Formats: sequence, structure tokens, C-alpha cells
Amino acid sequence: MAGALSKSLVSGIVIAAAVAAMVAPTPADHQPSLAEAAGRLGLLVGAAVDPAHFSEPDYAETLAREFNMVEPENVMKWRHIEPARGHFDFGAWDQVVSFAAAHQMKVRGHNLLWPARNPAWVTDGHFTPAELREILHEHIATVAGHYGGKVFAWDVVNEAFDSRGRLRHSVWYDEPGIGLAGRGTAYVEQAFRWAREADPKALLFYNDYAAEGLNAKSDAIYTMVRDFKRCGVPIDGVGLQMHVAVGSPEGISVLTSLDANITRLARLGVQVQITEMDVSLPLPEGQTSEPPADSPEVRQQAGLYGRVAAICAGNPGCTAFQTWGVTDRYSWIPVFTHGKRGSGLLFDNDYRPKPCYQAVLKALMDAWR
Ligand code: G3I
Repeated sequence: MAGALSKSLVSGIVIAAAVAAMVAPTPADHQPSLAEAAGRLGLLVGAAVDPAHFSEPDYAETLAREFNMVEPENVMKWRHIEPARGHFDFGAWDQVVSFAAAHQMKVRGHNLLWPARNPAWVTDGHFTPAELREILHEHIATVAGHYGGKVFAWDVVNEAFDSRGRLRHSVWYDEPGIGLAGRGTAYVEQAFRWAREADPKALLFYNDYAAEGLNAKSDAIYTMVRDFKRCGVPIDGVGLQMHVAVGSPEGISVLTSLDANITRLARLGVQVQITEMDVSLPLPEGQTSEPPADSPEVRQQAGLYGRVAAICAGNPGCTAFQTWGVTDRYSWIPVFTHGKRGSGLLFDNDYRPKPCYQAVLKALMDAWR
């Protein structure tokens, strides 16, 4: 309990929710929402969102009822927010900030630097390192500056390492880079320093996938964070994405060392957040609906979700649990896998809570008792 409440340092809103939950008696048959259950623990529970769906009542109601944190799935990315050099479009992002303010939710920012998925004007612009340095600095200063005080945490750098723990080649690192090519994580460090200058109060995160347990990539991230902390580079957290596929060996193996990875990072003085969880199922051809609740895949999915939520809720180093979307209706997975996988989120296509929702809720409630 003491360890759990210490997490509420990350959120005044969460502290208020926790206090309210402690003083207000709840009827025995009242099933709390995820936000209520997480709030008692001082834990943030979030979802990636697309503001295009805010006008859909089921989407908005589910989001506002179940979550206390949002993160834009796409509209914050470079190609959306700076589609041409120096032309910034904050319109969609502002809708996210307004929705969050109206429902007392925290906002995570995603992301300021990503080696992949940059707009063509950046990658094909034949800029010199000095020009790219200026472009990157202007982007971080403008975007993080625009949301100063409104975004509580930023994914400053997303997915800089490959699966073997080597830095990915990219326009920002070494193709041609911002003048720090071949100098390891110096370009990552530079991005964090610019982010801190732009928004001194926001928590600054490094975010990556397939680095949830102990492996070559998470070792590289650990080493970078340790070095940054020793040298005074402003880093406050590590995001563990947690895209898991039922039926793949990684789906299970990640759980064996997740807790140890969170603990070793926390010992460096950073917090850890589960930032993009989904647990996809194989879908038979042409099927888009949820498999039967008693199928082995659905049970395994619920088990994985519940276990990750329990580990996060039980480890004082983990301060947020977030899913990469609200409903299966709008998940990226069927699009990305051409319909071969899907059904990876907590709510089905019709916003009904799934067995994995009940598993997460139970894990959060068990952590409180
Ligand atoms: O909006 C257009 C639509 O107008 C067009 O008809 C359609 C045709 O392909 O594309 C639509 O845009 C797509 C967009 O998702 C919205 O659906 C883009 O092509 C597609 O590339 C984009 O994919 C996103 C991907 O990041 C790349 O930015 C996914 O939605 C999003 O879930 C995914 O998120 C990433 C995180 O940022 C980082 N971690 C991994 C995670 C999953 O890949």
C-alpha cells in the first residue's frame, strides 16, 4: 500500500481520485471502472486515441469512464504535426488536450523523434547535418513548447534501438544525422536536452518495443539510461510498449523478466510505464469479431493482460498502464496484418468489455486489497 501510494506522486489528479475512493463508501456490488481501480493505487491507466472518433458517443463515453490518461496514436507524429517545414498543425492534437481537460485526464505526448516514419520532406530533402540539427531543434522546441504544462510526459525518442541493441540507422542518427553520427546515443541525448529546454516540467521518456523483459535491446536501453543519469542528461522514464501476440514465444517469455526489468530501471531513478499494450489473436480468414470467450486464445489473452497489469500495479517503479487503442473497432493490428490478426484490445468492436478487461480490472482490484 505504501509503495503503491508513492506512485501517486506522478499525478495530482490521481491523488484526488485515490482520496475520494478511500472516503466514499462504494456499494458492495459496484464494479469500479479501470480508472477508479487504478486511481486507488495511484496508477495511471490510459489509451491511445484518435480524436476523429471523439464525436462517436460510445467511444467518448468508454474513454472518459475507463481511463484517466490519453495519448494520441498518430496525430502528434511528425508527418501530421509538421507536414511541411515550419508549418505546424496543432488542430487534431488540441482536440486531444481539450478532451483530456474536460474529463480530468492526463495527456502523454507521442513522439518528438522517431528514426522511422518521418515525412518525405525530411528524409528526401538532402539536408546537411547542420540543417537537420536546426530542423530537429525547431521541431522539438515548437511542439514541446506549444504543449508546455498540458502534456505531463513525452516520448522524446521512440524506437532508436534494433533487436540486437544497436542504434538504428536513420536520418537523425547517421543518414546523415545531426552532426553526431558514430557517437552512439549522443543524438538521443541532444533530443532530451532540447525537450527539457522546451518544457522544463514534463517528464521525459525513452519508448521502445520488444524491450519489456531482459534481452539485448533492454540491456542497451538500460545502459543508455544509466549513462544519461550519470552525466545529468534529463531523462525521467522508460516506456515499454508491450505489443504482444498470442501464439508467439515472445508473448510468454516477456512476462518472465518484466518485473526484473522494471525494477532495475527504477533503481536508476527513472519510472517505467507500459505505453502501448495490445495482445493480438490470430483471426481465421474473413473473421473480424471476437473469438468465443472460452476459446484457449481468449483465455491466454486475458491471462497475459492480467499478469502485466498485476506486475505493473505491484511494482512501485511502474506508474502507468496503457493500451494502444480503446476498441478493436479501430485497432492498428488488422490493418497492419491485412486481417490476419486482431481483437487485441480490452473492448470489442461494439465497446463491450472482454475477458481481458475483466482480467485487468481484477489485477488492479487485487493489488489494492
Ligand atoms: O489516415 C490514413 C487514411 O486516410 C488512408 O486512407 C490510409 C491508407 O493506408 O492510411 C491512413 O493512415 C494510416 C494511419 O495509421 C491511420 O490509420 C497510415 O497509413 C498508417 O501508417 C498509420 O499507422 C500507424 C503507425 O504507428 C505508423 O505511424 C498506426 O496507426 C499506429 O498504431 C502505429 O503506432 C505505433 C507507435 O507509434 C509506435 N510503436 C508501435 C505502434 C504500432 O505500430
